[in-house]
Amino acid sequence: MASSSVVQGAQALLQEQEETIEERLNEILSSYQGKKEELIPVLQQVQQVSGYLPEPAMKRIAKFLKLPESTVFGVGTFYAQFKLVPSGRNIIRVCRGTACHVRGATCILGEAEKQLGIKPGESTSDLEYSLEATACFGSCALAPVMVISNSVYGRMTPARVKEVLANVGGEK
Ligand code: FES
Repeated sequence: MASSSVVQGAQALLQEQEETIEERLNEILSSYQGKKEELIPVLQQVQQVSGYLPEPAMKRIAKFLKLPESTVFGVGTFYAQFKLVPSGRNIIRVCRGTACHVRGATCILGEAEKQLGIKPGESTSDLEYSLEATACFGSCALAPVMVISNSVYGRMTPARVKEVLANVGGEK
C-alpha cells in the first residue's frame, strides 16, 4: 500500500517517537520505587504517554522492576488495553457487537482487512491506518457500523467500506 519513501518516513518518525519516549520513560520511572507490583501502573503510564508499548521501553521496565523480560512482554500481550505497535494516523474501528454481527459485521471487517491489507490489531507499514474490531459503539440502529476517528458510518456494506476507505485515503 505504501511507497518505500513513505515507509522510510514512517520509520524515521517512529525512531523519533522512540527517542522521545526514552526521555519520558526516565521521568515516569523516577516516580516509582522499582517494585514488581508496579508493573501494570508503569505500563499504563507509558502507554498513556506514547500510545503504545515500544519494545525498548518494555526491556527497560523489566530491568527497573527486576522482572524477566518475558513477564513484562507477557503482561503487555495478555491485556487488551495494551498495544505493542503504534497506531496509524487513521484508526478504522469495525463494530463486532451483537446487532452489527447479525447484520454482517464479519463481511465488513473482511472487506476492511482486504482493502487495508492488515488484520485487526495491526497497522499499515506507513502508519497511515490501524484496524480494530471493537465492542458495541451504542449506535446499533445503524448496524453494521464502522467508526473512523470520531465519525460513525452506519448501514455499511462491503462496497461502502471500499468507498469510505478510498475517501479517507484521499484526505491524506
Ligand atoms: S452492536 Fe454495533 S453499534 Fe451496537
